[in-house]
Amino acid sequence: MNTFKPSLVVLFLLFALLANSCKTGAPVNDGADTMAEKMVARMTLDEKIGQMSQLFDGYFGDYEQFKQAIREGRFGSLLNYLGADKVNEAQRIAVEESRLGIPLLIGRDVIHGYRTIFPIPLGMAASWNPEAVKAAFRIAAAEASTQGINWAFAPMIDITWDPRWGRIAEGCGEDPYLASTLAYAMVEGLQGDSLTDPASVAACAKHYAGYGFAEAGRDYNTTYIAEPVLRNVVLKPFKAAKDAGALTFMSGFNELNGIPVSADQFILKQILRDEWGFEGLVISDWASVPQIVDQGYAVDEKDAAAKAINAGLDMEMATTTYFDNIKTLLDEKKITMEQIDNAVKNILRVKYKLGLFENPYVDPEAEKKILDPSFLEHARMVARQSTVMLKNDSNTLPLFADKISSVAVIGPLADSPRDQMGTWSFDGLPENSVTPLEAIRDMIGDRKVNYVQGLKYSRDRTKDQFSAAMAAADRSDAILLFIGEEWILSGEGQSRGNIDLPGAQSELLTALAATGKPLVVIIMAGRPLAIGDELKESDALLYAWHGGTMAGPALADLIFGKESPSGKLPVTFVKGEGQIPFYYYRKNTGRPASDRTWTPIDEIPVENPQSSLGYESFHLDYGYTPLLPFGYGLSYTTFTYSDLTLSDDEMSITGSITVKATVTNGGEWDADEIVQLYIRDRVGSITRPIKELKGYRRITIPKGETAEVEFTLAAADLAFFNGRETLTEPGEFDLWVGPNSDEGLHAEFIVR
Ligand code: NOJ
Repeated sequence: MNTFKPSLVVLFLLFALLANSCKTGAPVNDGADTMAEKMVARMTLDEKIGQMSQLFDGYFGDYEQFKQAIREGRFGSLLNYLGADKVNEAQRIAVEESRLGIPLLIGRDVIHGYRTIFPIPLGMAASWNPEAVKAAFRIAAAEASTQGINWAFAPMIDITWDPRWGRIAEGCGEDPYLASTLAYAMVEGLQGDSLTDPASVAACAKHYAGYGFAEAGRDYNTTYIAEPVLRNVVLKPFKAAKDAGALTFMSGFNELNGIPVSADQFILKQILRDEWGFEGLVISDWASVPQIVDQGYAVDEKDAAAKAINAGLDMEMATTTYFDNIKTLLDEKKITMEQIDNAVKNILRVKYKLGLFENPYVDPEAEKKILDPSFLEHARMVARQSTVMLKNDSNTLPLFADKISSVAVIGPLADSPRDQMGTWSFDGLPENSVTPLEAIRDMIGDRKVNYVQGLKYSRDRTKDQFSAAMAAADRSDAILLFIGEEWILSGEGQSRGNIDLPGAQSELLTALAATGKPLVVIIMAGRPLAIGDELKESDALLYAWHGGTMAGPALADLIFGKESPSGKLPVTFVKGEGQIPFYYYRKNTGRPASDRTWTPIDEIPVENPQSSLGYESFHLDYGYTPLLPFGYGLSYTTFTYSDLTLSDDEMSITGSITVKATVTNGGEWDADEIVQLYIRDRVGSITRPIKELKGYRRITIPKGETAEVEFTLAAADLAFFNGRETLTEPGEFDLWVGPNSDEGLHAEFIVR
């Protein structure tokens, strides 16, 4: 008989192949399905319901009750339960003392860093640097995992067009392409090359879907999104997260077109499972299942649980609608055991893929890595690259430390360690923040810094420090004014109707401008504020978002010219709330506005007759342009674009072309430029936006040098959903390569 005996070489090759595919994260038949299948066959209904429940730290007031609940398999996951020893003990009870030994998922909001806090995600998006963002999320995972966390509720990838919405801070801005590239990088960073690496955690793409379209930018509000916008815009980053291998998704709080997304079969089933083939776990948002009742889509919590389960929502966060109702719903045949089994399998597979069945414990010594100097250095680099220079008249910046005798450092954000961390930084510690004041003192010497806070906090309206601030300005060579928003003015539940600078900050700015000293304004905020007047009054303006732990040193690096600013806006800046929504890929309309027709409100003659001549799409007061376009950002150097060439001005419907352009750094600084590629599909079966980002590159160009930038544009990249199908349509296209969404070299091509 010829029995196959694998030789050592074959075994070695097999091992090498497996090890390698784990490393690259390539899908392997890892046994998760078999394990889940077998496990579910052994589970009681109570154990299955337990797996579908996530409870929060503190749910059980009593520790003995808590331990008993783990033994009984009462819940499959915990959130906000932290600390290596605590979690290890909980895992030990789950694995050793519960009947089936199923380990726990431990979830936490690790949104832009754990202890080393990076810029808010909107800030990171301004870096247009997926590699750096990926490394930031890798660090976040490395730090968080030391506390027993194996599941981060990130990335938050809700596209929004509304800066009033407080959660704009947590996402990647307005553009589906930029957000998709970053979403991919964030998932890769969290999950690492190998999911079983102790420093990897499961990612959770949230809030699926449409949450960022809350009406009036008021958090938790209703959303109406037409399917082409849903598919061409909102879902893009989620698809990217799925493609990057995100193990989990979180459904949002919102209702979408009349259906709460936590119960939406179209969103959760048809798109996510059937079209995209997602096999991971979907968790609700905090209490979003019982809220289906408040939304008016279910008569009671039992009905809400049935609707969520029927839509394919696997795990409920924080509330007990599933726990309380699943048995009755099965008895009443409102749900099936097959649905329950599928949900449990989705959950078990995630636990298996994370390697928790093999080893659910974390090394208590690992936490020594937290705040590693290399992590802080990376946070400083990302904060630098996230800062966008919006104005620099007469080369006000950089300041040269050896040439100035002193600077006035003023403003409520100059030395506010908590505020600079921004929203969702539960685990960051203010004492680890290095503020701009500290960093500037460190860089140029205490003696050269005249500090006056000016206002105690961003909303402060008392002006009793104004004269001291002006006196400090008078005796200094330049003013560095740090203003913006406190951290608590953005993030969940923190929407604003008015997006001006709060408090008396603008008045402080005006008072300081009146001193005639060079005025450098640094805005640290959780959203793009309406800063038209402040932009006019300042000589230079850096938009620094909430830059995290290392915001201070990063800003000092830029202010004193250690590096040139290089960030670009990931959102359009509006002139005022009345312009919202205003995004660069808007439609042309049948009456696009131009200077020819816009008459500013104060110039309209009294009793001007009505006439449809010259009636175009603008606001009488704001005009028809935003304050600043998407993609905008200045540098200490000057970049010139030339020689745009296309490998062909025709492309087949299945083909691609190569686009090349030359960028020259004609200034005195080595610097990074973010080169952007936009297209316009002139005519479509549904109308197309006036511009769409299709590629970008962050490149470093030494002073005086020239770089050639190359993009491949495939016809498939031009596909869009037209209400019926997703396709690339033949026709004429415009193409631009340039420094922002408003400027660039232009070419044309045809798709046949
Ligand atoms: C509610 C938020 O919407 C969500 O983003 C977060 O992950 C959960 N709470 C858990 O804290």
